Amino acid sequence: MHQHHNALGLAASRPVAPVTLIRPHAAARAARFFVEKFPGRSMYAVKANPSPELLQILWDSGITHYDVASLNEVRLVAHTLPQATLCFMHPVKAEEAIAQAYFEHGCRTFSLDSMDELDKIVRATAKNGVAATDLTLCVRLRVSSEHSKLSLASKFGAGPEEVGDLLMATRQAADALGICFHVGSQAMTPDAYGQAMERVRAAIVSAAVTVDVIDVGGGFPSTYPGMEPPPLEAYFDTIHRAFESLPVSYSSELWCEPGRALCAEYSSIIVRVEKRRGDELFINDGAYGALFDAAHISWRFPVTLLREPDSRAKDMPFSFYGPTCDDLDHMTGPFMLPADVQAGDYLEIGMLGAYGTAMRTAFNGFGSDETVIVADEPMASLYTSEEREVASNVVTL
Ligand SMILES: Cc1ncc(COP(=O)(O)O)c(C=O)c1O
Repeated sequence: MHQHHNALGLAASRPVAPVTLIRPHAAARAARFFVEKFPGRSMYAVKANPSPELLQILWDSGITHYDVASLNEVRLVAHTLPQATLCFMHPVKAEEAIAQAYFEHGCRTFSLDSMDELDKIVRATAKNGVAATDLTLCVRLRVSSEHSKLSLASKFGAGPEEVGDLLMATRQAADALGICFHVGSQAMTPDAYGQAMERVRAAIVSAAVTVDVIDVGGGFPSTYPGMEPPPLEAYFDTIHRAFESLPVSYSSELWCEPGRALCAEYSSIIVRVEKRRGDELFINDGAYGALFDAAHISWRFPVTLLREPDSRAKDMPFSFYGPTCDDLDHMTGPFMLPADVQAGDYLEIGMLGAYGTAMRTAFNGFGSDETVIVADEPMASLYTSEEREVASNVVTL
């Protein structure tokens, strides 16, 4: 990996294939912010970006727990960070994966949303017919995704009609009983968590069980064009107040599982414009590369023209075509760029650290592994200058 000062300097070297820029300082800042300010434990949702370098940065910045969703993620974290605590938070798992995570990698925390999954976990963790006595089992509640840009409401979660029985049965099998939920990704208001916590309250009351862990999941937002969420502290305050008022034991713990908020600012890409056709730019990365969300859910990412001297033309809206041979490789944007952008220009597309670079494929022979570390600021940040200072003070203490 090469070290470059900034995106502009890198573009001047005229790379032929797309280049991923990584900003370790941005991920470290986000991690320290959560470690310092979230009123409980923050674990990282590995699916958002499983790069081993990123895992190491988060670990070095105080993130000790990792939400893994597959056996390969279990193995990856166990290998990269042997001392990390693994929490298998996918509510539908292969029985073999549960057994391997438990017996070979020391994973003790699992989520579930049905009796079938509970039976699976109990079976997979028993030894010589004797049930495990050291499990932390988190029952996933179904909650609304109405305040989020990406719904997670249909696929997983126990509904109000079944959750009472499920909590009681899980209590029997668990050493520690948790309740978890996910409000959907990129939750645009703290109320999403406030409302979900009301579902938690109702579930605890209906089951009359002692709960040891409340896990509010992921969903913490980042900043993208047209999506400017309130500060993360407002989310933490709402969650803290709701947690304090729940009927849970004095020693119960509060957890969260951010993915996006810890790594969105970690990566961006530099692409080259290969052709211009009116307001359409043909670039060398796309739907099968780091721009899956831009193509498939019309997500807008910040863009900037990397040209020196800078263009003096006014911005206008562009859409992008990626490099493959099909119409699906299209990103509608709109992406605002100077009106004189032309073939041969370089662009930086920002905020691709979460669910961006992690989704890349080599389809059609495109894509590139070239990665460069830069020290400049990400194109958008939810961590304001005052917050940055607080976070950097934490590290020097
Ligand atoms: C169980 C679970 N936890 C955490 C996350 C991370 O969510 P986000 O990136 O919105 O913080 C996800 C995302 O799909 C998830 O499924």
